[in-house]
Amino acid sequence: MDLKSLIRDVPDFPKPGILFRDITTLLQNEAGLRYVIDQLHDHHVDAGIDYIAGIESRGFIFGAPLAYRLGAGFIPIRKPGKLCQAVYSVEYSLEYGTDKLQIHQDAVQPGSRVLIVDDLMATGGTAAAAAQLVDQAQGELAGFAFIVELEDLGGRKLLPDVPIKTLVTY
Ligand code: PRP
Ligand code: ADE
Repeated sequence: MDLKSLIRDVPDFPKPGILFRDITTLLQNEAGLRYVIDQLHDHHVDAGIDYIAGIESRGFIFGAPLAYRLGAGFIPIRKPGKLCQAVYSVEYSLEYGTDKLQIHQDAVQPGSRVLIVDDLMATGGTAAAAAQLVDQAQGELAGFAFIVELEDLGGRKLLPDVPIKTLVTY
């Protein structure tokens, strides 16, 4: 499947100089959506994943169906002020700004295996923050899965030494 043909390139969004890789066109395509979830499922089916941790907001879209297919639970990693119980928080930098992420302190059964899912890895800052949160919540980080990797931004260097699966690289 030619995933690049299903991902829309939007110059200068959300800021001048950013080439935004828009996955809404992939989501619109029934075969494309099925393909990416199936690929991530097949890759992780024997990895002993207990939970998918999806990163708000685009990580929710791919993470929840993947959790369903793997027979795993789903944990939301959210922007500040959205979670209703005690949280752990981590601040991080983005390709276009800074932000904070949070996880419920009781989200993970201690020692269980967690796969972090997002639509895209750019600088890796978001995913690295998510990994710190899983660690604080006493999960065992099993790996990362992304649809898109922006290779030139070197995000892999920021991430812990666990398997990283991406489906399309720019
Ligand atoms: C985007 C994307 C990743 C992150 C990747 O999310 O969905 O989460 O940026 O960037 P990084 O690797 O440089 O950290 P964004 O913060 O724009 O939020 P959204 O998913 O709510 O649109
Ligand atoms: N998140 C960070 N950088 C991005 C980009 N270039 N396209 C889409 N999402 C992003």
